[in-house]
Amino acid sequence: MEFMECVTKRRSIRSFTAEKVEEAVLRRVVQAASYAPSWKNSQTVRYIAIEQKELLEEIAQHCVMDFEYNKRTIRNAPALILVTTVANRAGYERDGSFSTSKGTHWESFDAGVATMALCLAAQEQGLGTVVMGIFDEEKTDEAVGIPVGQKLSAMVAIGYPDEQPIMPKRKSVDELLTVIK
Ligand SMILES: Cc1cc2nc3c(=O)[nH]c(=O)nc-3n(C[C@H](O)[C@H](O)[C@H](O)COP(=O)(O)O)c2cc1C
Repeated sequence: MEFMECVTKRRSIRSFTAEKVEEAVLRRVVQAASYAPSWKNSQTVRYIAIEQKELLEEIAQHCVMDFEYNKRTIRNAPALILVTTVANRAGYERDGSFSTSKGTHWESFDAGVATMALCLAAQEQGLGTVVMGIFDEEKTDEAVGIPVGQKLSAMVAIGYPDEQPIMPKRKSVDELLTVIK
């Protein structure tokens, strides 16, 4: 798929068919994410793919702050990817101090950059994704048992689309871009 087509046709998908995401396909999208740039090439982003129905139900029920869209999405997704970061590395000096005035910002920045690569690779494979930021970190940690030293950055539901949403309106390039000459 051509790059601009992939970027423009990607939509957040919240309704999926029952078809499972093959592990080889899952590995391919995570491989794409592994090529994303990262703070000093620290590669701190990790992916926990959950397919177990009982756990998906528990996350839907208890871990998304009762946000109905996310409950529904997680209940019908064949898989949910938890995007985590190994803490205290991206944006930090070796002595544990922050490298910049932006503090912990670079951890989630790296997670965001990698997640976009993952979502576009999924799109190229005919899969749909939705990034979800409305969740309770502590409750998800409890339910899933996120490895010690990792922080949950985002949830991504993934599967074969069962809807074709209309693109939410985008701002024009004129609104977005400032060129300083
Ligand atoms: C950081 C972030 C958090 C988001 N959180 C949620 C969420 O919790 N639930 C949801 O349904 N969509 C969520 N979205 C998806 C946005 O609503 C969606 O990207 C936006 O409406 C544009 O639609 P599009 O992705 O189809 O272009 C999130 C997207 C981002 C980037």
